[in-house]
Amino acid sequence: MPDATPALVAAIDLDVSGPTISRHLYGHFAEHLGRCVYEGFWVGEDAEVPHVGGIRADVVEALRELSVPNLRWPGGCFADEYHWQDGIGPREQRPRMVNTHWGDVEESNHFGTHEFMALCELLGTEPYVSSNVGSGSVQEMSEWVEYLTRAGDSPMARLRRENGRDEPWGVTFWGIGNEPWGCGGNLRAPQFASLARQYATYARDHGDNRLYRVAAGAADDDYAWTETLMKELTTGLGDRSPRNLFQAVSFHYYTMSGSWSQKGSATEFSDDEYWTTIRRAQHVRELIAGHAAVMDAYDPTKQVGLALDEWGTWWDVEPRTNPGFLYQQNALRDALVASLHLDAFHDHADRLRLANIAQTVNVLQAMVLTDGDRLVRTPTFHVFAMSKGHHDAEARPVRVVSRQLREVDGTGVPTISASASTKDGHALVSVTNLDPSAGATVRLHLRGLPVSAPTGTVLTAASVRVHNTADEPDAVAPQPFDALRLVDGTLELDLPPAAFVTVSLTVG
Ligand code: AHR
Repeated sequence: MPDATPALVAAIDLDVSGPTISRHLYGHFAEHLGRCVYEGFWVGEDAEVPHVGGIRADVVEALRELSVPNLRWPGGCFADEYHWQDGIGPREQRPRMVNTHWGDVEESNHFGTHEFMALCELLGTEPYVSSNVGSGSVQEMSEWVEYLTRAGDSPMARLRRENGRDEPWGVTFWGIGNEPWGCGGNLRAPQFASLARQYATYARDHGDNRLYRVAAGAADDDYAWTETLMKELTTGLGDRSPRNLFQAVSFHYYTMSGSWSQKGSATEFSDDEYWTTIRRAQHVRELIAGHAAVMDAYDPTKQVGLALDEWGTWWDVEPRTNPGFLYQQNALRDALVASLHLDAFHDHADRLRLANIAQTVNVLQAMVLTDGDRLVRTPTFHVFAMSKGHHDAEARPVRVVSRQLREVDGTGVPTISASASTKDGHALVSVTNLDPSAGATVRLHLRGLPVSAPTGTVLTAASVRVHNTADEPDAVAPQPFDALRLVDGTLELDLPPAAFVTVSLTVG
């Protein structure tokens, strides 16, 4: 039975405007890494598994359930050694290369620009192309933009037509580099900032295509990197607004329970490791606020967006798999890490405009795992599915009146996380109980507008270690949730231990 004292009491003002939660905070990421692109998305036209022009049909079908807003490709670290011209034209004639970052395996280049754009069309998603600054050239990048987006007659538009595509595609999101402080060239911040200005200049807007240029940014809490980037990107532009050169700067943050050399197992972990993971996931809130504060100093009117274009859990690879392939299982714990991030994203939607969980299929905190011709939706998949109502909705901040804390390493960790939004006459409330051993009552005062007809969904399991496999694909799956009461605008929920709950209500 849940405690009589609510673990969280909070007020949500439905008549007070908040920022729009861009659907692009729910973006995904597909790198040429392990079994993400090859086997995950691309099986080739001769495959026995059902496919559409070589793209795996069950993966597309599952991801369409998430209304994927954007897909980042081709990396990651791989982006900085990718030469796009090797990935066009007849597949059998494409040059091969070695993927030195990930497994040292041969890359066939069979999945290139046309295949990626076909995938985006099948998914109904916007492409987010990450361009090569580390080992490419300004000309190479500039020609890629032209190839993708230029109509009419031009050298790259002609080349595209020779490869079977007459009309240009629409491309909005354009990444300038990736982790330039590390795999993207081991550059220093001022050096990268100068390069980024140069590359952004030649990432042209062709016709009516408007690029949203994202300068690669910091790791974790490297606020000095963001500071240098913002300073360099916003000064010395004459009367050009930084908004005209850059639309966003990024940062990356991964969650693990251990260290980079020993990250911890995805499914076999102690209670202490669980709470360390939760505390680290909650830290994303401070990181977003920290980078946003630096940006405020240079861009007080928030013209430039913040992009967290790699995030998620990173565990030791599953036993007997290639260490360079980053294949990991995904348990209920991962789902709770995801919901914590999404709550933080909603609260910072005024500055955070883009986010990409890493990575979509078979790599890191994936949405789906493939096992031969079978497909598994992960617990994280279900969090994204249950949260779709937040896409492009208006954030309604949750004002905490009182909350329960649990001591972890001398720090008080909130055991409940919540966020809310409204859209089209509906409110969606997300609530997470992080405590794996105790249920919790949550009381939410929904003020300002009348609400009715609450409908709940819950994602939970007997343990935070439970995960889905091809033999047991629904060990963690959403269920209807009716342990809720709505009385005079107060919504009370009795949450089971370790659970993510969403409640949809009619407003007005
Ligand atoms: O997502 C895996 C890797 O993590 C990416 O290639 C890189 O950008 C980051 O270090």
